[in-house]
Amino acid sequence: MVIVMSPGSSAEAIDEVVNAITDAGGEAFVSAGVARTIIGVVGATDVLESLEARDLTQHPSVAEVLRVTSPYKLVSKENHTQTSTVMVGNAPIGPSSVTLIAGPCAVETPAQTLEAAQMAVQAGATILRGGAFKPRTSPYAFQGLGAAGLEILADVGREVGLPIVTEVVDARDVDIVAEHADMLQIGTRNMQNFALLQAAGAAGKPVLLKRGLTATYDEWLMAAEYIAQRGNLDIVLCERGIRTYEPSVRNTLDVTAVPVMHDLSHLPIIIDPSHAAGRRDLVLPLARAGLGAGADGLIVDVHPHPEQALCDGPQALVGEAMDELAQLMATLPALLGRTQN
Ligand code: E4P
Ligand code: PEP
Repeated sequence: MVIVMSPGSSAEAIDEVVNAITDAGGEAFVSAGVARTIIGVVGATDVLESLEARDLTQHPSVAEVLRVTSPYKLVSKENHTQTSTVMVGNAPIGPSSVTLIAGPCAVETPAQTLEAAQMAVQAGATILRGGAFKPRTSPYAFQGLGAAGLEILADVGREVGLPIVTEVVDARDVDIVAEHADMLQIGTRNMQNFALLQAAGAAGKPVLLKRGLTATYDEWLMAAEYIAQRGNLDIVLCERGIRTYEPSVRNTLDVTAVPVMHDLSHLPIIIDPSHAAGRRDLVLPLARAGLGAGADGLIVDVHPHPEQALCDGPQALVGEAMDELAQLMATLPALLGRTQN
């Protein structure tokens, strides 16, 4: 059983609920997040039944009592039948819209970031992406500008009027990233970095959780549960391609993940056709496939000069492909019964 306290619950209210659990013979695990406190209850069936009879939903500070059979409790669809809408600044990601997140893979210079951001806006993006801390396969590859990159991205976001999402790769950097970003990104390589998930969950900002390269659906949702268990339910899943036996594309976009996640979880899900394909020519076809399967948005790499990019140039959209992306955003959402966002 999991008890979700209302935002701003007092210490006394939390103590009252904990006492009710221990009085019934159960053990309470309190996770105090910035937004809300979550109390996990462990106990035998008779303990849970006795708590159910006591009906903690009547407590004025209890928002929800979840008796969920799936291993992921807070992110499961069992108690939340509607897909949630997560706000990133003033941009919604959820079932009624198609949200475009776009920007450079890596923040390189103020001018490059601004140009990429203007391209993103032109295509209909409502959230700007850009990596300041880059998770690279090679320790000799460009690792990102770090804190300086965060400043550039935040400045550019303000200039073009978009909220920003950026990756955090180390739990020790969560605070500084959260200071600048409107949304924290956990990348594929860190999907099961549990300390990072918990720190991100406690940071008080929405989290974009990318699927691990070889993660199963259950592993991905359990990773999301780590974030939620810190009191943060503002989580967006991102399918970004998985590793398969096919070497001609970087990864294989698992379109099936979109309806399956919508079936298992109330969290919105977007797709990243750029990192999935690793090739510019495949980004738009995969974007259409993902949206057709029900994705709530896209995250796409764009770069004014991809041939000079310090990271992932071959997958960055530019020129005519940007016009095609703008066209897709202007037409496809309505056909899918959604608004463009
Ligand atoms: C991009 O955003 C990642 O940092 C990039 O895909 C890493 O891949 P690579 O280091 O293998 O080039
Ligand atoms: C990224 O979006 O910058 C990124 C590194 O993506 P992924 O973690 O999916 O490789």
